[in-house]
Amino acid sequence: MPDQKIYITRSHIIPEAITYLDGIYDIEVWQQNSPPSRALMLEKAQECDALLTEVTDIIDAELLDHAANLKVVANRAVGLDNIDIPAATRNGILIGNTPGVLHESCADFTFGLILTLARNISYGERRIRAGEWTVFDQIPYLGTDVHGATLGVIGMGLIGTAVARRARAFDMTIVYNSRTRKPEVEAELGAEWRDNLDAVLSESDYVSLHMPLTPETEYMIGKRELDLMQPTAFLINTTRGRTVNPRDLCDALSSRTIAGAAIDVTDPEPIPFDDPLLSLDNLLITPHIASASRQTVRRMGQMSADNIIAALRGEPMPSCVNPEALTR
Ligand code: DGY
Repeated sequence: MPDQKIYITRSHIIPEAITYLDGIYDIEVWQQNSPPSRALMLEKAQECDALLTEVTDIIDAELLDHAANLKVVANRAVGLDNIDIPAATRNGILIGNTPGVLHESCADFTFGLILTLARNISYGERRIRAGEWTVFDQIPYLGTDVHGATLGVIGMGLIGTAVARRARAFDMTIVYNSRTRKPEVEAELGAEWRDNLDAVLSESDYVSLHMPLTPETEYMIGKRELDLMQPTAFLINTTRGRTVNPRDLCDALSSRTIAGAAIDVTDPEPIPFDDPLLSLDNLLITPHIASASRQTVRRMGQMSADNIIAALRGEPMPSCVNPEALTR
């Protein structure tokens, strides 16, 4: 019987990765599609060597401070806002994530949102299903062109760059602001650096958010920022819901301060059925699925499994955000 134990917080998302880990380790898998309870997570963190988690599992200081046996948490995500990294490092617990395997899928999806929103694809489909297509009349469905427009990228990491690459094929002008300037992206794609967020917001026809959720980016887009956008402009959020103030977004959409928004992420998540955002026709919303292609979810599962195997063998992990934890 293997002596190291892994707790996996979902059973149905990454079956191949679970099979791969089974046999090497003693694995226990939560069988429901909602997250395990807090009490169970605390218990499993104490008794296991590794956790394989999803973004909705809260791995905070309380859990990490009491996880005597825990050596690694592999989050099946690139985002790590559900994990207290300093607390993990303090406790000598390695944290893994999955960059480099999902950015192309996220960029495909982001571009899908841009086109769907701008050209009223989902809006038109909803009207037909509601029985409202009774006469040939394109005017209620007039969209906005994507080709030749200006795309503003906030956060030019792997995903932002992959979105910008697609924008090039649409002859878009690309402006961006990011934590660090990216000369290689400027050289490859002709993206233009702006040294402040406000310039990107005010110049762009489409503003696409790709920065991680951190204390600095929490509610970074609120009334002031939305007011800077053009009334014909669109906001696209595929990063985390909490980067945008949802009430300010709702006001901007209802008063048409901006033309529309497409959001794959919400605050809170899932969004309650009665949230006023859901009554707005100029909002396109999807259930946090930007990375969720079959191929990419499988790759993310494999990378999470590889992160665990490497960490438990004392080898370099495919992606570890706090290697300094090993010195604790
Ligand atoms: C990520 O990778 O952070 C996604 O949001 C989770 O699918």
